[in-house]
Amino acid sequence: MARVSVLLCLVILVTLGVVVSFSFAHDTEVTSNHVESSQKETEVVHNSKHEEKGGEMVNDDHKAGSHVDKKDKKKEHDVHKKDDQHEKKEHDVHKKSDHEKDGDKKKTAHHHKHDDDESDDEKEHEDKKKGEHDESDTDDDTDDDTDDDDDDKDEVDGDDDEKDTIGLYELKKGNITIKFTNWGASIMSLRFPDKNGKVGDIVLGYDSVKSYKTDKVYFGATVGRVANRIGNAQFKLNGKEYKTTANDGKNTLHGGKKGFGDVVWEVKKHKYDGKKPHIVFTYTSPDGDQGFPGEVNVTVTYKLDKENELSVVMEAKPKDKATPINLAHHTYWNLGGHNAGDILSEEIQILGSSYTPVDGELIPTGEISPVKGTSYDFLQLRSIKDNMKDLKTGYDINYCLDGKADKMRKIVELVDKKSGRKLELSGNQPGLQFYTGGMLKDIKGKNGTTYQAFAGLCLETQSYPNSVNNPKFPSQIVEPGKTYKHTMLFKFSIVS
Ligand SMILES: *[C@@H]1O[C@H](CO)[C@@H](O)[C@H](O)[C@H]1NC(C)=O
Ligand SMILES: *[C@@H]1O[C@H](CO)[C@@H](O)[C@H](O)[C@H]1NC(C)=O
Ligand SMILES: *[C@@H]1O[C@H](CO)[C@@H](O)[C@H](O)[C@H]1NC(C)=O
Repeated sequence: MARVSVLLCLVILVTLGVVVSFSFAHDTEVTSNHVESSQKETEVVHNSKHEEKGGEMVNDDHKAGSHVDKKDKKKEHDVHKKDDQHEKKEHDVHKKSDHEKDGDKKKTAHHHKHDDDESDDEKEHEDKKKGEHDESDTDDDTDDDTDDDDDDKDEVDGDDDEKDTIGLYELKKGNITIKFTNWGASIMSLRFPDKNGKVGDIVLGYDSVKSYKTDKVYFGATVGRVANRIGNAQFKLNGKEYKTTANDGKNTLHGGKKGFGDVVWEVKKHKYDGKKPHIVFTYTSPDGDQGFPGEVNVTVTYKLDKENELSVVMEAKPKDKATPINLAHHTYWNLGGHNAGDILSEEIQILGSSYTPVDGELIPTGEISPVKGTSYDFLQLRSIKDNMKDLKTGYDINYCLDGKADKMRKIVELVDKKSGRKLELSGNQPGLQFYTGGMLKDIKGKNGTTYQAFAGLCLETQSYPNSVNNPKFPSQIVEPGKTYKHTMLFKFSIVS
């Protein structure tokens, strides 16, 4: 009897082994095909975390494309300094060689060894499969995860290998699909249907993650340590003079030559689907980074919390020195679609009754002026074009937002009547840089699109620019032991 059992076990094991290796081989093929087709479409996405080895096995040829070699990175930054920011001519789109390793697919194969109908069942089983995986997950981040629901156990923690790897990640819930890259913790695409149910990508960007490394216009990026401009690339803090790297004439823009938008972030957590899909990026900015004092840990969490809503939470903690911190999210929106032309016919409401006038270098003069009676008045929803009249280059200005900062409140409503898409932005920051992309020129973007002036607009919630040199503006200084927390909520909908 015992011998029969042993024999039976053996047979089962062998059969299992064959099935597993078959599934694996089969899946490898699928992944390869995926890679092939991605040359055209770049649709290879991490639904889960990287699986280095598996990916390299499959994508050996393309390995170079998806890795940021330390040396290359250095070179990259030395060569492509963002000195002329928006005006710099864009590089050609790289061939889509950033083939990401689809580790998830492998696991799927593994766990689906008994499924005959793999393709149909794949999605539905993903949760269960990741749930199984969960047992070995060590979730060491407990401090900010107050939303622990059943879903959370499905998430995948990042590992150390991701530090030097740039990849493509995706979140999906209901009608929204978003792609990210950990280069600059950036949004690459956001797909949402129009009034006819036709899905479109409503953010400007590039097809391949590699192109983000040479980007000069901060497409989709998380910018910092201090977003916007610091006049003369210097400031005083606690009696000490600090010089920051100048990359915008003699000024510092978006954190300097190698700001937070120009570095590889770590993917700490990633949950592709389920009730609350989310991705968490982290970065440690060292003491003296671009001239700023003290080490700072930064975390950006993107979450699809509710139907048609994206929440973005940016947090930063200085280690042992006070430092200015002002993060901003730099997606260029075009509700008509990234390739719809310009945003000038879109309508916007900005709930800021005053703004900070600027000098010829876009540094605030220190005044705070009412918008009433000026081209800056968007207190009522109105067409951008109609208001813009005398502003040939459009808007690139900071609004002083109404209501109390540190409290979430509605800030912007943006409507595109043609597509029927509407975006409502709430946030907890004192200011909003409204930039209509007037300096975009000949940028080779997604799917053969060339972006020109006004192809998209940015809604950069933040504190006022050059606050470090302006005692009358709300302070950007964060003391050690304190946490900077910047929250945004984007609600998408359809208007008739
Ligand atoms: C998703 O899109 C479809 C097609 O446009 C629409 O019928 C449905 O109401 C949308 N769902 C949500 C939650 O917006
Ligand atoms: C910053 O992050 C590093 C690495 O994760 C960690 O060792 C350190 O304790 C963190 N510092 C603070 C102030 O949170
Ligand atoms: C890419 O552009 C072509 C035409 O230029 C269009 O037919 C196609 O739908 C576009 N693809 C995507 C994914 O936007």
